[in-house]
Amino acid sequence: PDLPIEYQIEFLPYDKRWEFPRHRLTLGIQLGTGCFGRVVKAEAIGLKDSKETVKTVAVKMTKSLSDVVAMDALISELKILIYLGSHLNVVNLLGACTKDIAKGELLVIVEYCRFGNLQSYLINHRNQFITQLDEFGNMKSGIDAEHPNISEHLDLTVNGEGRAVQQQANTLSTRDLISWAFQIARGMEYLTSKKVLHGDLAARNVLLADDGVVKVADFGMARKMYYSDYYEKKGQGLLPVKWMAIESLTDNIFSSQSDVWSYGVLLWELFSLGKLPYPGRNAKFELIKVLQNGYRMEKPDNAPNFFYEMMTDCWKLEPNERPTFVQLQQMIGNYMEPLT
Ligand code: ADE
Repeated sequence: PDLPIEYQIEFLPYDKRWEFPRHRLTLGIQLGTGCFGRVVKAEAIGLKDSKETVKTVAVKMTKSLSDVVAMDALISELKILIYLGSHLNVVNLLGACTKDIAKGELLVIVEYCRFGNLQSYLINHRNQFITQLDEFGNMKSGIDAEHPNISEHLDLTVNGEGRAVQQQANTLSTRDLISWAFQIARGMEYLTSKKVLHGDLAARNVLLADDGVVKVADFGMARKMYYSDYYEKKGQGLLPVKWMAIESLTDNIFSSQSDVWSYGVLLWELFSLGKLPYPGRNAKFELIKVLQNGYRMEKPDNAPNFFYEMMTDCWKLEPNERPTFVQLQQMIGNYMEPLT
């Protein structure tokens, strides 16, 4: 009864109320691809109560129609999404096309997040970054008017027809990073409250939607974690071992507190504006060795001192000594209060 929900997932039912007619879904360009599946942009007609309206959505599917492992993983993900319910800081389920599962096709419809994943966004906006830190690594106060959040910062630009339109300016500030850190902690607090482990929390798995809202995506990895070498094979030269807690690396133990470790690495990614963690260290055995000897990453240039302290707390050897997502969310909330 206290096992994470992933271990009970086979027993979760599929709720037919989520079924969406395949003919009202038009698939478009590819948005992303992983080791199991891919995500495409799509147009859905008449989702939920909006009868005639067309909505842009994201659709997850397996790469191949005959990959049973991938299909199994996607079915699990769908079941977790149904079980989970919705939260602002999670990429929510909108529907599913399950009629052709026997032919190898399962389409899982989720919210579309216009600005893509945080890792790419950070890298693409490095040049427009505005720091709000003083020379000692603390937030400057009283600069609200000077450097608003991106969500509030609107620019007038001229469109193709020569008309002025309001557009989101492409700036990125310390305050945006803090707001994202807060929202991710909230999304993770929600997953934790539902006993869902993420298992692969990283900037590449957090998506940016309108109005500065960020959403945690691609959770429910526990089943994939049964295959312990999954992590090293994944990605193109990326080593997801860099996001894994020490106990996950050495003993294959995953918990909400190992997600907290990954959250610390995600904070490091945010405040380094999308750098690859542990630069130059690419061997799993070497990483384990230095972590066991107490080595931790240095403070990224753009991190407030407060956030660096929080990162190092997330990387404590003893999982129970790390803060929980409830605490992280509260700590960041308190830190933000005088700034808003
Ligand atoms: N890439 C992967 N998933 C996505 C989503 N839901 N929205 C936008 N881009 C994505």
